[in-house]
Amino acid sequence: MRIITAAGLTKHYRSLKALDGIDFDVRQGECFGFLGPNGAGKTTALRIISCYLPPTGGAIAVFGIPVHDDPSRIKSRIGVMPQDNNLDPDLSVCENLIVYARYFDIPKGEAAPYARELLDFVELSDKANVRIQHLSGGMKHRLLLARALINHPELLILDEPTTGLDPHSRHAVWEKLNTLKSKNTTLILTTHYMEEAELLCDRVAIMDAGRIVAVDSPRTLMSAHGGNLEQVYLKLTGRGLAD
Ligand SMILES: Nc1ncnc2c1ncn2[C@@H]1O[C@H](COP(=O)(O)OP(=O)(O)OP(=O)(O)O)[C@@H](O)[C@H]1O
Ligand SMILES: [Mg+2]
Repeated sequence: MRIITAAGLTKHYRSLKALDGIDFDVRQGECFGFLGPNGAGKTTALRIISCYLPPTGGAIAVFGIPVHDDPSRIKSRIGVMPQDNNLDPDLSVCENLIVYARYFDIPKGEAAPYARELLDFVELSDKANVRIQHLSGGMKHRLLLARALINHPELLILDEPTTGLDPHSRHAVWEKLNTLKSKNTTLILTTHYMEEAELLCDRVAIMDAGRIVAVDSPRTLMSAHGGNLEQVYLKLTGRGLAD
């Protein structure tokens, strides 16, 4: 079953083609990765899937619902971990989760115990009552992951979920994502770490300058092109080591 189908998707900013006609689908229960250099269009694609950004052209449906038809119905079933920290600095760690739950009409009586469970999941229970500015960068990252889970999403969208994390925290996030996947949550992520893509993703789309230049499982891409995923990536994005 397809969770997302996108065809001929474009996003233009004046003359800049951030997405230049991409086709992809995401299957129920898989982990799908967008890889590509800075500016390739990964975040743009995720923001369109998340219904935060209207495409310029093409067609995209999430859960079979065209995104322009009923974005709020889609949003209620997805969780989004953005590339940049947009936590509320005036609230505590726990309050950030509870207030966010309001957007999904989750009553406080239900949100509060689940927030504590999520803080336990991302190993931030001891920080529940501290203000956001007292968290380290990696802790904020983990809180963003917890927040993305508050509405029990069927589809979790993660923009660079482990950028800036220390090796222990990165492994911890990988473990969490594998746990979610084993519970049949569909994952879409972007990453600049090829090891992460190889470990987590069932399929990856390699992007360059607003286009998808290859989409397949890491294993198939590696056997088709030779070398490890990083070498395949460098070859397909024209950024070979000799450049
Ligand atoms: N609001 C905007 N206005 C104008 N141009 C934009 C806007 N948002 C993104 N862009 C441009 O669209 C292109 C794609 O940006 P995007 O953020 O999708 O890249 P990315 O693949 O996520 O890169 P990174 O790896 O650095 O996060 C870039 O050239 C960027 O400058
Ligand atoms: Mg990005």
